[in-house]
Amino acid sequence: MIEATSVKKYFGDRPVVAGISFSVARGEVLGFLGPNGAGKSTTMRMITGFLPLSEGSISIGGCDIEENPVEAKRLFGYLPENAPAYQDMSVGGFLQFSAAIRGLSGRAGKAAVERAAGLCHLEGVMRQPIDTLSKGYRHRLCFAQAILHDPPVLILDEPTDGLDPNQKHEMRELIREMGRDKAIIVSTHILEEVEAICTRVIIIDRGTLVFNGTPRELLARAPHGDRVLVILRGIDGEEAVAALEKLPQIRRAEILGEEEGRLTLALQPTGKGEDFAWNIKKMLDERRWEFCELHTESGRLDEVFRDLTAPDGADRKEGVA
Ligand SMILES: Nc1ncnc2c1ncn2[C@@H]1O[C@H](COP(=O)(O)OP(=O)(O)OP(=O)(O)O)[C@@H](O)[C@H]1O
Ligand SMILES: [Mg+2]
Repeated sequence: MIEATSVKKYFGDRPVVAGISFSVARGEVLGFLGPNGAGKSTTMRMITGFLPLSEGSISIGGCDIEENPVEAKRLFGYLPENAPAYQDMSVGGFLQFSAAIRGLSGRAGKAAVERAAGLCHLEGVMRQPIDTLSKGYRHRLCFAQAILHDPPVLILDEPTDGLDPNQKHEMRELIREMGRDKAIIVSTHILEEVEAICTRVIIIDRGTLVFNGTPRELLARAPHGDRVLVILRGIDGEEAVAALEKLPQIRRAEILGEEEGRLTLALQPTGKGEDFAWNIKKMLDERRWEFCELHTESGRLDEVFRDLTAPDGADRKEGVA
């Protein structure tokens, strides 16, 4: 439903999007990640026809956004960054206006407004002027505008930004539900959101694509994804490390903490680490070492994100140098 091919964007002579390609099919929720200034919103603005491309092409449902903009724009709903809306309109007025420009009038328009307002919990503020809305409500209004015509494609730039935890949860459920039969792109800085709603993730860094895969594949890159943490009781740290590192399955044993007789160790497996935790438990039992906790650490997305987007640890300048 969305096909981006070698998309580039220059502002002046500065490449902000430096040739990225990806596609999104129906039934997919694509997470769009990247540090501030990476080019996410710029890419979304090009997908939605708000900014012209410098090079490359984008099509929505087979319609080229630059050659066939009206056809392409019928197929998607767009929640832009910072949720812009006409400040002097009322919530209900803005939704009716949005329905009208989507070609929904009369009974169909009324039904579309009611449905979208219901899904976004706006019933209580329908008469309120937009400039008096709180940030979260303004965001919900803009989301309602995006889904009004029930489009097959949704482009959502930070859809949960500014929402309270209950609303965040509900918005994620809604996106996941809609993702079953729509093609959705969601940009976000909240990494657990990616695990919660996305079927695939791309990460861009300084305008280039650095990752394209499933959240699971992303997690598999976590540096500590397969290590086992164990808390032992009544055992000296140095002694434990020396004994553990003698075992062929353990590549490295590291003391993370030692207090009140509790010794916390991180154990890194040699090779792939299948049955690693189980082997450790067997070994501890054989030595009669008492442990009060033993678990395999699941990888952390923020570690992978940092790894992929700042490999040299250097300070980042905005955009591409
Ligand atoms: N109209 C413009 N003219 C010049 N530079 C621009 C323009 N719009 C965006 N930029 C620059 O392009 C770069 C990418 O911005 P963009 O808004 O796409 O980043 P982003 O990935 O959405 O970041 P954030 O996570 O902060 O929302 C930034 O350095 C920004 O300053
Ligand atoms: Mg942005």
